[in-house]
Amino acid sequence: MMEKVTVKTILEKKRKGEKISALTAYDYSSAIIVDNAGIDIILVGDSLGNTILGYESTLPVTMEDMLHHVKAVARGRKRSLLIADMPYMSFHLSPQETVRNASLFMREGAEGVKIEGGKKRINMVKALLDAEIPVMGHIGLTPQSIHIFGGYRVQGKEIESAKALIEDAIALEEAGVFSIVLESVPTEVSKIITKILKIPTIGIGAGPFCDGQILVFHDLLGLTPGYLPKFVRKYADLQKIIDTSIKSYIEDIKNGKFPDERESYHLSEEIKEKLEREYGDFLKD
Ligand code: KIV
Repeated sequence: MMEKVTVKTILEKKRKGEKISALTAYDYSSAIIVDNAGIDIILVGDSLGNTILGYESTLPVTMEDMLHHVKAVARGRKRSLLIADMPYMSFHLSPQETVRNASLFMREGAEGVKIEGGKKRINMVKALLDAEIPVMGHIGLTPQSIHIFGGYRVQGKEIESAKALIEDAIALEEAGVFSIVLESVPTEVSKIITKILKIPTIGIGAGPFCDGQILVFHDLLGLTPGYLPKFVRKYADLQKIIDTSIKSYIEDIKNGKFPDERESYHLSEEIKEKLEREYGDFLKD
């Protein structure tokens, strides 16, 4: 039995030079699979807006949506560290509201929260830590900022923006976050950040030098319809497997091959005989 992963374990891993694995999960059954597979961190990401709820961005995702999924994942997770993603406008208005929202996740079994943004979120990070809530930072391509960025673009490609990302990372570490997600950032920039920081960096589209990697469950397993970003590695094509399985099911129903004896229940001989006396005609083939 593998040991429970805690925030301390994640920090230790960087110290020991061990890589950190992270993956999103959004429901009970996938949480069990991800946890059993040995993933260090399960993130209930607001990417569920795209993967589960069918929105075009993460902006419509609410606290209610997130809580619904955090509760389900918490029921399935045993070992992995469970981090809840704070949705758009749940950590922007005041430190009090940020803490109140984060505490709802903690009450449901989350062991920390992730918030998007660098320097400008420092007061929120401090308020969360004051309330004993571990925080994961998230900089680079923060999907809640797409309208500021003008789309889903790699961040930190120019000298000024690269330096700004490095400064954001340092400020977050100083404020006390226990790790930082670097999303869609040039490898060179994430390498510098990873070397400067004592806390781990978790990359998604940020190259191989990060202390850990995170992907979206549906992307990794080939469940995402349509376009996939360059940084995704698809480890399976479950869409194809599911499609073939459902088509076989339809065929078996049409041909009378499903269900057969293996999937059927029967009466005892005694009850069957009694029923036959009244309904015998209906039991004939
Ligand atoms: O919402 C999410 O799934 C994320 C990860 C991709 C880092 O923020």
